[in-house]
Amino acid sequence: MTLKLVITGAILKTIQSESIEQTFAVAKELVEKYLKPGDLVLISGEMGAGKTTFVQGMASAMKINQTINSPTFTKLHVYTGDWTLNHLDLYNIPDIKALQSFGIYDYIEPEKEVSVVEWWQRFPTVFENLPHWHVAISGRNERRTIEVEARETVCLKKSQS
Ligand SMILES: Nc1ncnc2c1ncn2[C@@H]1O[C@H](COP(=O)(O)OP(=O)(O)OP(=O)(O)O)[C@@H](O)[C@H]1O
Ligand SMILES: [Mg+2]
Repeated sequence: MTLKLVITGAILKTIQSESIEQTFAVAKELVEKYLKPGDLVLISGEMGAGKTTFVQGMASAMKINQTINSPTFTKLHVYTGDWTLNHLDLYNIPDIKALQSFGIYDYIEPEKEVSVVEWWQRFPTVFENLPHWHVAISGRNERRTIEVEARETVCLKKSQS
């Protein structure tokens, strides 16, 4: 296996998604080509942009058979398949103190599992400087744009040449 570093801000992929299937295909590519245990994935996008749908695509690629729902009220779901996936949604966490007492540091610097976070941008100072994969979803209906980017240096699983 070849390991390779990606420089901050390198855009891996930008696609126009016209369907859930296309969103799933990008999520699968992220999991299979790039992710490794311990990685952090931050997803940006307005309400209803398709963030949880992207996580469903990741889970499917990880052979997770459980139903993936938005953890908007529970804040965290942990799923297990070929990988362990921590799915966080910070929408209802009122402030940074509550985020800390929730135990966020167990999830933003994971060791064996992958953590994926919706509504992370409510707490930019906590997340921005950590190495992570960034997934930005914009647009609506059949005109969603999904941009996948490596932020800071993240060690790739495979050579991309
Ligand atoms: N690529 C897509 N094509 C068509 N419909 C989609 C696509 N992505 C998501 N949707 C639909 O958009 C709706 C909202 O999706 P989703 O719950 O994933 O958004 P979200 O960004 O997680 O929302 P929230 O901000 O509330 O957490 C769902 O009904 C979902 O099926
Ligand atoms: Mg969601």
